[in-house]
Amino acid sequence: MTTPTIELKPSSHPLSEEEREAILRNPGFGRHFTDHMVTVKWTEGRGWHDAELVPYAPLSIDPANMTLHYAQTIFEGLKAYRRPDGTVATFRPLANAERFQTSARRLAMPELPTDLFIAACDALVTHDKEWVPAHGEQSLYLRPFMFATEVGLGVRPASEYLFIVIASPAGAYFPGGVKPVSVWLSEDYVRAVKGGTGAAKTGGNYAASLVAQKEAAAEGCDQVVWLDAVEHRWVEEMGGMNLYFVYGDRIVTPELTGSLLPGITRDSLLTIARDLGYHAEEGRISTEDWARDAASGALTEVFACGTAAVITPVGTVKSRRGEWTQGAGEPGEVTMRLRGALLALQSGAAPDPYGWMHDL
Ligand code: PLP
Ligand code: COI
Repeated sequence: MTTPTIELKPSSHPLSEEEREAILRNPGFGRHFTDHMVTVKWTEGRGWHDAELVPYAPLSIDPANMTLHYAQTIFEGLKAYRRPDGTVATFRPLANAERFQTSARRLAMPELPTDLFIAACDALVTHDKEWVPAHGEQSLYLRPFMFATEVGLGVRPASEYLFIVIASPAGAYFPGGVKPVSVWLSEDYVRAVKGGTGAAKTGGNYAASLVAQKEAAAEGCDQVVWLDAVEHRWVEEMGGMNLYFVYGDRIVTPELTGSLLPGITRDSLLTIARDLGYHAEEGRISTEDWARDAASGALTEVFACGTAAVITPVGTVKSRRGEWTQGAGEPGEVTMRLRGALLALQSGAAPDPYGWMHDL
């Protein structure tokens, strides 16, 4: 089966420059969408077909669409940045394309070829280039996703799917700038178990996380931290971010156990941190380690990282057994240094020694 090329059917009514500029002045996160989207269909026996760039528009969904009932759906998140010279590039799209294939395998969905994933993102960003913000830390967030479109109530892998890429200009994920978030250690609920779908980026993981996120909010916290599902002790990740623990010049991120998402920011930071002279490693951190090392001062900083949230310091930690505040409640030095290095590379303010940026 051949990979289709993307047919261009641009909008005859894109938003005016004034309307777009008004949105770009304060985009928030995931609230506004650009003029176009890319859609590609998959049908059993036929493969990928009908790849198109079309005006952004609602979809018409049959009430018996299988995704609405059995949640066969996966997604990705990556960003396009505008460099100081005006050119635009995306960050590590191949890594997202490969993770999308891994998620598809786990959800018994067809694997989109990586070149089609990247071509779809490129087509959208190229056509909606004016939507890539030019200021500061803003970017254009791309959301590729795929879901079953077959109609029917039998429980089995669907025979038809739709892949779509939409784009949304993005400011800060957490309003209020870089200030430490407070986290709730979830001991009653678990996000994922080994053999489950935790390492896949699938909607069900997020649906299952919401009750714990509500609990965190009721406890006065911004985010939930997930622990392992067996001992309820080993720190895994946050709702939409991975975690890093800073011990002076040694930084540790929870190892990939199969039940947490292999974040691309997490992976990139292992490399960037080593190049900045830190000992960066994957390891195991328990909630006891966290409480003890924060109290003794050995644990100097904790931060969360992900595409949407970039790098966000973690301040207050709360659980049923107590509460403590990391450091002085201010963003730590290592956190801010890594954040600066990552953003400089992504926005073109610093060189890209790893060839991570994909030019458009
Ligand atoms: N963990 C979860 C559950 C996520 O949803 C995300 C966001 O994509 C991450 C971690 C961070 O992954 P990445 O750095 O690839 O965005
Ligand atoms: C991302 O960082 O891309 C995410 O998917 C996190 C969240 C918005 C679900």
